[in-house]
Amino acid sequence: MNLYQDIKPLQSHLQAKRRQNLRIGFVPTMGALHAGHLSLIDAAKEKCDIVACSIFVNPTQFNNLLDLELYPRNIENDIRLLVQSGCYILFHPTIEEMYGSDFHKDSAAVYGPYINLLEGAHRPGHFDGVITIVKRLFEIIEPDEVFFGQKDYQQCLVIKTLLERNFTNIVFNRCAIKRETDGLAMSSRNVKLNKEERIAASLLIQALNHIKANWNAETWETSIAEAKKMIAHNKHLQLEYLCVTDPDNLTELSAFNMNAIALIAAYCGQTRLIDNLLLN
Ligand code: PAF
Repeated sequence: MNLYQDIKPLQSHLQAKRRQNLRIGFVPTMGALHAGHLSLIDAAKEKCDIVACSIFVNPTQFNNLLDLELYPRNIENDIRLLVQSGCYILFHPTIEEMYGSDFHKDSAAVYGPYINLLEGAHRPGHFDGVITIVKRLFEIIEPDEVFFGQKDYQQCLVIKTLLERNFTNIVFNRCAIKRETDGLAMSSRNVKLNKEERIAASLLIQALNHIKANWNAETWETSIAEAKKMIAHNKHLQLEYLCVTDPDNLTELSAFNMNAIALIAAYCGQTRLIDNLLLN
């Protein structure tokens, strides 16, 4: 695997590959890689000739300084996993290389009416930071296709809109959520859960499954209320939101519709977890 911290040599390497007509798949990450990330690398390998991955814990997308400080980092293990997975290039820049002295944030407001809902409402400025860094990464890598995980469903919508507006020749791929055997969505943050919290965390997908199992015109509303109670009754969990929305624009459903998605965010101890499930 070819590892770069600096933009210029990375770009000349990618340029040479482009001249050989090789299609470049790109998987942006913040590291602490797990099987979910590796499934994105696999998807990229399947559709493209070479895969570039980035690892950069982007400070501007954290709305909480402690969360940024405590975000899991394990670069040696990440490199080992990426080599095993057949990733071709790893871009692992410093904060200076990505931001220089200009620590500005773009505004995400133009990338969809749903920017201020759900994650946007609970993590003010989060999508401004995501858009800023993802735009910069796309400009540096100039990928043919990009691969994002469905766990960050709202992020997928925002990035799709960014591509439609600014990068029309990049193909967007949304990849299925990878889950632990009890259903918990894989996340870099899961390593922060203690034993009791780890058991409680599986209630998130159980609540979403409960809604899906009762997704019909008669029981849809009561099942959402019951799912909220499942979370409320556990002492380790603090619900931020659990809502069922239109999958295209994230507006909350006011009437039953087969085409819907349930999204949840909750603190499990000190760790914030998110998950979602398409209901149709
Ligand atoms: O999903 C993530 O890990 C991050 O938001 C991303 C897309 C790598 C941008 O920092």
